[in-house]
Amino acid sequence: MRTVAIVPAAGSGNRMGRELSKQYLSLGGMPLLVHTLKVFEECPLVDALLVVVPPQDIEVVRNTVLAPWKLKKVAGVIPGGKERQDSVRAAIEALDPDAGIVIIHDAVRPFITIELISQCIRAAGEEGAVTVGVPVKDTVKEVAPDGRVMRTCDRSLMWLTQTPQAFRRDIIESAHRAAVRDGFRGTDDTSLVERLGIAVWMIMGDYNNIKITTPEDLVIAEALLTASLKAKG
Ligand code: CTP
Ligand code: MG
Repeated sequence: MRTVAIVPAAGSGNRMGRELSKQYLSLGGMPLLVHTLKVFEECPLVDALLVVVPPQDIEVVRNTVLAPWKLKKVAGVIPGGKERQDSVRAAIEALDPDAGIVIIHDAVRPFITIELISQCIRAAGEEGAVTVGVPVKDTVKEVAPDGRVMRTCDRSLMWLTQTPQAFRRDIIESAHRAAVRDGFRGTDDTSLVERLGIAVWMIMGDYNNIKITTPEDLVIAEALLTASLKAKG
């Protein structure tokens, strides 16, 4: 039974507001997408990678991203869809028959670690469906569209959800099929599983595992990269 990692990188990075989509922006001389793929490449529990990119970028990604950085585990470059959920589904439909565990991770979270990937893969094998996340540090309130505070959530129960999210193959396949059938749109993959009444388990993630979304995040990413290089000596 093989473990396949799906890396959705088919977004256009609207909130970043740059000409070049954020997954290709350079961080310390290497595209963000390559930072992320390299961690999966180096994780012994990952057998193959499927990268999802905008349809018009397939050739360019093959020639200028994958080939020069010698990413050997990339088994496919798949054309993405309109929304993240469509891109992930395209990769799920392209899975080999022998894929048993599927781990999904945003291309734009380059500070993922081999340890966290491994933990997710093992937990998915045992539990079926897992996500990583971190407890919120701020107080969370629910606010109506007009600005009125509706309620204050119990902070001790609130987690910010990150990726990776990992699944037994049958679970994530049926969740995506059901979402298409019901016209359900979620902002992550575990929400598609939760609505089927299947248990999803939270794994303690890492506050450094940020998603690079807006220009401030690039400043933080530079600082995190410098700190990690210093720590490695
Ligand atoms: N993604 C994707 N296909 C899409 C949209 C997003 O594969 N149609 C990917 C992005 O490339 C990214 C991840 O999903 O790696 C998380 O999405 P997000 O941070 O929202 O990235 P973008 O959609 O590119 O950014 P924005 O929402 O600001 O346009
Ligand atoms: Mg988006």
